[in-house]
Amino acid sequence: MPENKDQTLQQEFNRWAAEGEGEKMQRHHLDITEKAIRQMELRPGERVLDLGCGSGWATRMLARLVSDGPEGFGQVVGLDISDEMIRQARAESKDFENILYVWGSAEKIPWEENFFDKVLSVESFYYYPDQDRALNELFRVMAPRGRMFILINLYKDNPYSLQWADKLKVPVHVRSKDEYIELLQAHAFENIEAVQVSDDTPTPGDYVTKSFRSLDDLKAFKRVGALLLMASKPDLRTPAAGYTIY
Ligand SMILES: C[S@@+](CC[C@H](N)C(=O)[O-])C[C@H]1O[C@@H](n2cnc3c(N)ncnc32)[C@H](O)[C@@H]1O
Repeated sequence: MPENKDQTLQQEFNRWAAEGEGEKMQRHHLDITEKAIRQMELRPGERVLDLGCGSGWATRMLARLVSDGPEGFGQVVGLDISDEMIRQARAESKDFENILYVWGSAEKIPWEENFFDKVLSVESFYYYPDQDRALNELFRVMAPRGRMFILINLYKDNPYSLQWADKLKVPVHVRSKDEYIELLQAHAFENIEAVQVSDDTPTPGDYVTKSFRSLDDLKAFKRVGALLLMASKPDLRTPAAGYTIY
């Protein structure tokens, strides 16, 4: 695959995978992800993409929610740029018939257009070197009226999150809530919403943090919470007045 920037990301996240970060991320992201998944209103039969799926724990949650039901057999695709993460995700998902893990980049999603009813992306979007290309790709692979849910822990409106931006070994985007809304508007998404989702898990008094200056800062970071971006692809089959389809 990949272009140089993708190779750098792949190496970095392969290292994370080898150091067991997949499991740690589950603990750190579970509370905010459960809240995001509730917003997704998933139904059996839906087709879902987990973009930047890591070790696949959230992918498996999604797969349980869309599997067998009166509306059919739902399917979940987990995509990640780290082949090590994909390997771990596959190993831990052997009991699932409705998950497919794919190694690839968010900037070149190896999937057909107009396919996914819902997209979830947990703590991955700010790593993409070219977020515009990733949004073009999401727009392409989403079904008309499909809805995406992007969780971002590192953004300007949570000042505590900025403490660990320079500890990361790969470049990241640090935008504000309003800047993200503008970006989604520029890509023609509609029904855009941006809400802050607090992490309500308790922080033990003896917890050791390397990412924050103090436990109080970590607690404040969790209280301010992650940014959840939600947006839909317009239904281009029945364009609203004023749209011209060529
Ligand atoms: C912080 S981890 C989060 C993983 C998972 N969503 C979770 O919450 O446990 C970020 C993930 O995004 C993936 N990633 C980073 N850049 C990517 C890209 N351009 N395309 C696809 N995946 C990417 C990484 O390999 C990594 O697994």
